[in-house]
Amino acid sequence: MAKKKEEGYLSAKESRRISRENRKITNAFEKKNKRKRVPESEFATRMKDPGNVLEIEGLHTYFFTDVGTVKSVDGISFEVPIGKTVGIVGESGCGKSVTSLSIMQLLQRPQGQIVSGEIRFNKGDRAIDIAQMPIEAMQKIRGNEISMIFQEPMTSLNPVFKIGDQIKEVLDLHNYDNIPEERINEKVIELLEMVGIANSRGVAKMYPHELSGGMRQRVMISMALACDPKLIIADEPTTALDVTIQAQILDLLRNLKDRINSSIMLITHDLGVIAEMADYVVVMYSGRIVEKGTAQEIFSNPAHPYTQGLMASKPVVGKKVDKLYSIPGKVPNPVNMPDYCYFRDRCEKRCAACDGEYPGEISLSPTHKVSCYRFFEQENKEA
Ligand SMILES: Nc1ncnc2c1ncn2[C@@H]1O[C@H](COP(=O)(O)OP(=O)(O)O)[C@@H](O)[C@H]1O
Ligand code: SF4
Ligand SMILES: [Mg+2]
Repeated sequence: MAKKKEEGYLSAKESRRISRENRKITNAFEKKNKRKRVPESEFATRMKDPGNVLEIEGLHTYFFTDVGTVKSVDGISFEVPIGKTVGIVGESGCGKSVTSLSIMQLLQRPQGQIVSGEIRFNKGDRAIDIAQMPIEAMQKIRGNEISMIFQEPMTSLNPVFKIGDQIKEVLDLHNYDNIPEERINEKVIELLEMVGIANSRGVAKMYPHELSGGMRQRVMISMALACDPKLIIADEPTTALDVTIQAQILDLLRNLKDRINSSIMLITHDLGVIAEMADYVVVMYSGRIVEKGTAQEIFSNPAHPYTQGLMASKPVVGKKVDKLYSIPGKVPNPVNMPDYCYFRDRCEKRCAACDGEYPGEISLSPTHKVSCYRFFEQENKEA
């Protein structure tokens, strides 16, 4: 009594089999994650370039779900140089947040796991591989040497505690030098002033709901800065804010970066934000990097058809258009990725070679890399 298999649907039996297998896989990862008192030598590593604060190499992060394995991040590599801002751009669902949550070890576990790859972090005198680090050791890095600003500040602030007390808690948690209480209280006020909150002593006594969205995001930024992090990850920090507030927050981040001399990894779906802020740009599509380079290279010479599509779909001041360009088609299903260029079915520039396997990376300059067959052809012709 063989039942006809319907494309894309799973039988209950199949689904149970998948969850059993998933459990086996994730249990093995969790065992590794939950190790206690692991000596640092086990996750010590070396930076390829000591001028980088972060080097991601071949990172694969998957979610083992009952309907199959979601390869949210599928082999990405990029660097964040010290003191620079790297913008990560791509449309919703391409794996930007999963990338940042991997770096912070904040993935939804046990289903979300770093499956392979390295996340090398430069601690100054030595380097560690976050991908190999147990949860316990990561707690000393998170919020201390790397901090994160989320899209919706209300979900990260505790509604029942006063603003000042919440900032103080962050400072207390990382107070390894036993700084006296009065000095910590002063530091709370200084932090609020640093992020441009005028009535800082008053605001410190308020609850989150008494503040506007822009003020709350400023408070979140002050908490992220509390421990002088070497790297700040800002995941869509202005997406939930209206346009004028958005500009103010971006200004603030830009000014702060120079003052505290840290690096920023700025995640957004908005190329306009990247244009204003980033020194380097990484373009993601369906869990992979399709193009990366300096901001200058990406904006004046976008090479990948997807990057070009993103540029064309962005409104330009002073240019009258009837309808904004939108990239036709939709992204492939992340459980069942094709074995050819992921962008092919939406690409207006595809050629015969594009039916081949997923294109490798080609260097257009020492910093500018693209994964697209159009450039393989050029290289062949030049050879
Ligand atoms: N907890 C989860 N369980 C299963 N799939 C997830 C989970 N979190 C994210 N994903 C999937 O990973 C992919 C990338 O998501 P995300 O990184 O959040 O995208 P974005 O680029 O919009 O930040 C999406 O296909 C999303 O559905
Ligand atoms: S490899 Fe081909 S299909 Fe893919 S983006 Fe380049 S031109 Fe388009
Ligand atoms: Mg996101």
